Amino acid sequence: MNTPDTSAWPTPTLHARKGQLTLEELALTDIAERFGTPTYVYSRAALVGAFDAWRAALAGRRALVCYAVKANSNLGILSVFARLGAGFDIVSGGELERVLAAGGSAAKVVFSGVGKTRAEMRQALGAGIRCFNVESAAELERLDAVAGELGVRAPVALRVNPDVDPKTHPYISTGLKGNKFGVAFADALALYRRAAALPHLRISGVACHIGSQLLDPAPMAEAAQKVLGLVDRLAAQGIRLEHIDLGGGLGIRYRDETPPAVADYLAPLLAVFAGRPEELCFEPGRSLVGNAGLLLTRIEYLKPGEEKNFAIVDAAMNDLARPALYDAWHDVVPVVARDIAPQRYEVVGPICESGDFLAHDRRLAVAEGDLLAILSAGAYGMTMSSNYNTRPRAAEVIVDGASAHLVRERETVAELFAAEKPLA
Ligand code: LLP
Repeated sequence: MNTPDTSAWPTPTLHARKGQLTLEELALTDIAERFGTPTYVYSRAALVGAFDAWRAALAGRRALVCYAVKANSNLGILSVFARLGAGFDIVSGGELERVLAAGGSAAKVVFSGVGKTRAEMRQALGAGIRCFNVESAAELERLDAVAGELGVRAPVALRVNPDVDPKTHPYISTGLKGNKFGVAFADALALYRRAAALPHLRISGVACHIGSQLLDPAPMAEAAQKVLGLVDRLAAQGIRLEHIDLGGGLGIRYRDETPPAVADYLAPLLAVFAGRPEELCFEPGRSLVGNAGLLLTRIEYLKPGEEKNFAIVDAAMNDLARPALYDAWHDVVPVVARDIAPQRYEVVGPICESGDFLAHDRRLAVAEGDLLAILSAGAYGMTMSSNYNTRPRAAEVIVDGASAHLVRERETVAELFAAEKPLA
């Protein structure tokens, strides 16, 4: 039997029992039978465990963990975090609606993003969100105007760009000078003075986020030092902040990365702000959901080739874009272990593009019809999925002990073109 080394898996609630993968108390074969494939499957215990790690690391500090909704915006996931008292980091009016529909509190919502529309500003002001993380001088003026029209004052933080290198994938580093995000550090003081002078704004805090999948805590600690310097310079000008938002970005293990534990990531940041009165705010996404989820898929065909063997599965780049987009590595584990010689496979989907791969060159002992679990797919999996090739998006299931909750039904093809019309 090709017994998998379960200790190597990054999902804490994934086990091999009698040669079968189980998530919490449920066999993945049962989930595939009940809900079909491809299906995203999440572990509630893993979600709660990840949130608890943040909470424990922040114990004794006035702090708010705002889950970054973009990582996984399913209402089931949001409701788990809402119940745990989380705040939410949103980047669109749509995400705000999701948070409210899932029972989240608007008073704990921070709104990030470089392109907030007037309608989104009105919506967020109407809901009474906690803070707008403003990313440009033009946005500051627009927000003041919109708040004025509504006769309210908008709570603002400026997202500053600390110009540190997060040492991560270029597509997901955001705190460097050449990025579109945030306002330049050199401009921050003047912009805060401007914000203080605008009648319909209330300065609440400062925000920064330097990138995603951070594996080294040092760049974030450097950014925190810079932010602290700014907070002090602001105080000297009579501008006092209520909160300091240090963004998200903590990385996870996909393969052999060794990300810091939450407490080790936070320790240098907490040290920088020790003894200060401001509330600390964080916007983690990936580290809360990434390893709580997997993508369950079935092998449709095995296709031996002259140079490569292909395992053609029923999930594709439209379901999980990360491999095609970032060349990201996700572990691929057969759900039922087989006593046959493993072979090397390209794990690919049915989409008509060579970029449609989920994994390259994996040693797998599998046969046609077998189920595979694509691990670490809880973050930026379903939220980045599309309907390319008119493929209905996957179902989503949250496992809770021995129960499975269908938190999103599989799309139907009819739904995909319900809003379209042929020309008469
Ligand atoms: N806050 C802000 C302002 C962000 O831009 C992001 C992520 C987060 C928080 C959450 O970061 P996290 O804790 O998840 O690293 N699609 C890419 C990741 C893009 C991240 C974008 N911003 C991927 O699949 O790796």
